[in-house]
Amino acid sequence: MKYKILELLEEKKFHSGEKLARKLNVSRTAIWKQIKSLKELGYDIYSVKNKGYRLISRPDIPTFEEVSLNLDTKIIGKNIHYFRKLDSTNIYAKNLLKDGASEGDIVISDIQKSGRGRKNRVWYSPFGGLWFSVILFPIIPPQNAMLITMTCSVSVAQGIYEIIDIKPEIKWPNDLLIHDKKVCGILTELDAEIDKINYSIVGIGINVNNKIINELKDIAVSLKEVTGFDISRVELLRSILKNLDKNYSMLKSNKYEDIRNLWFSFSNMIGQKIKVDNEKSTLIGIVKNIDENGCLILDVKGKIKRIVTGDISYL
Ligand code: BTN
Repeated sequence: MKYKILELLEEKKFHSGEKLARKLNVSRTAIWKQIKSLKELGYDIYSVKNKGYRLISRPDIPTFEEVSLNLDTKIIGKNIHYFRKLDSTNIYAKNLLKDGASEGDIVISDIQKSGRGRKNRVWYSPFGGLWFSVILFPIIPPQNAMLITMTCSVSVAQGIYEIIDIKPEIKWPNDLLIHDKKVCGILTELDAEIDKINYSIVGIGINVNNKIINELKDIAVSLKEVTGFDISRVELLRSILKNLDKNYSMLKSNKYEDIRNLWFSFSNMIGQKIKVDNEKSTLIGIVKNIDENGCLILDVKGKIKRIVTGDISYL
């Protein structure tokens, strides 16, 4: 009902409680309650006796009501589950699957109390960032799973580029950097059998307006720091979801080469000397390619190695 009320209030004039109630076929008290809850969410709604309600401004909170305005996507973001605080959006998304979630559902939280990064690292998630997970049911072979992450990292890069006009760089496998510092990390979790992926939960963390803690200042940066102004999280998320919708349709139609090309347009890794750290080994070599399955092809002293996972540093 909030969405419907906001749609009606969008026309920037006074709307009487009585008319709103009639249009939505509910009581005036129900309208009053919804208006009260909208105000609590940060909507500036001016109420005048005998005149009604007038919407003055909308908050920058990534709720369904805000993000879905002009979001003409086919799959992504049809349902947006917004929370002020969660342990982790990936964990919530996993539980949501038990209740029958749909493909493209988004779980988003202003704050994560136990945000997780790759390799079970802590992902610091204070207010001001975008911390969200996307539920996908990709019909692609499990060996191509890296392409899911690539599809998402490209979509985030496109979204950031559209909103702040600064092109982020994608660093394999899934980091987005600006001025060599991390602005976004992606954690893709899979449930798969030998020949099929049952579901994938892609957790995306973007430093937008949040403060970067001192310990991370050398390696991480926020979009606010880069641009010098507050970025609308709602607009950024909307742009990412629109791009993801397009790119995910390409993935679904097996246009893997198109995804790789888009990915390469945001990366300049080829030809670079890098170090790859794994639990078991450290390799130094020159990046030759990212193959059709999304694996890193490295020339280590003339021997070609295919890397499936690892932490990369440029040398
Ligand atoms: C990385 O280590 O680079 C991946 C970080 C992924 C963080 C995101 S924030 C939303 C989602 N929920 C989590 O707990 N983690 C991911």
